[in-house]
Amino acid sequence: MLKVDQASVFFRTRDGRTVHALDRVSLNIPDNSLVVALGASGCGKSTLLNAIAGFLPLSSGAITLDGRPVTRPGADRGVVFQKDTLLPWKSVLGNVALGLQFAGVSKAERRARAMELLSLVGLSDFADAFPYELSGGMRQRVGIARSLAADPEVLLMDEPFGALDSLTREQMQELIISIWKATRKRIFFITHSIEEALFLGTQVVVMSPRPGRIVARFDLDFVSEFARAGDAGAIKMAPQFATLREEIRGILHGSDQIRSAAE
Ligand SMILES: Nc1ncnc2c1ncn2[C@@H]1O[C@H](COP(=O)(O)OP(=O)(O)OP(=O)(O)O)[C@@H](O)[C@H]1O
Ligand SMILES: [Mg+2]
Repeated sequence: MLKVDQASVFFRTRDGRTVHALDRVSLNIPDNSLVVALGASGCGKSTLLNAIAGFLPLSSGAITLDGRPVTRPGADRGVVFQKDTLLPWKSVLGNVALGLQFAGVSKAERRARAMELLSLVGLSDFADAFPYELSGGMRQRVGIARSLAADPEVLLMDEPFGALDSLTREQMQELIISIWKATRKRIFFITHSIEEALFLGTQVVVMSPRPGRIVARFDLDFVSEFARAGDAGAIKMAPQFATLREEIRGILHGSDQIRSAAE
């Protein structure tokens, strides 16, 4: 279990102001879950993910992974960023295998593992290509393969499809589901798309504008329905999906109004 317990983050800006980014957020990411955090721009989603990744310290509260405190980045957490962070001078294979190279894994083993992951994300034929030869969606696939290389316990994904066109984005959502099913990794996924959150999440947490708090939680199972029946269109058109979409839209809109009233 990955546990976030009453996590708060205050940032100190360079001009001496304090920004309250995250306010007592509690969250569990149990085995076999795909937890999605949804919220408006600036509500603290990346702050939460970066704290789980160990990139930034909490001001108060605690994060533990299977009982161990999270205080720094580690191979037990793989991260996929919104913008791809591939090294342009390395091939696709070299990028996926980079972490394994740092970990001292032998060349033959690195290659075998990276090829396996490239096949998982549908890029077997592009192992020797360079990032500039790939589309945005393909680069994100490489990023996903790279995040899986060290066989992490949890995948942390910060709006990984935010920069993709809607068709590619839908294909990538289906790819995430197949990876989630194939690897049984726990996934923490951030998005500002209500539809993406509903489609992917086994649990969706809705965050308020700054300071980011969790204002609603939903346990869902559209993702398993998709894994069974494979018809994304039918799921997204279903009345139950539409009702939840409107409910969440109302919550996000409502918390916006609370913010305007407070300002
Ligand atoms: N290093 C920092 N120093 C000061 N303030 C910061 C820092 N990082 C983030 N913030 C502030 O914290 C708040 C939350 O930022 P965060 O990046 O977590 O938002 P977000 O929900 O990920 O937004 P987006 O959807 O646009 O990516 C913002 O007001 C931001 O300005
Ligand atoms: Mg962000």
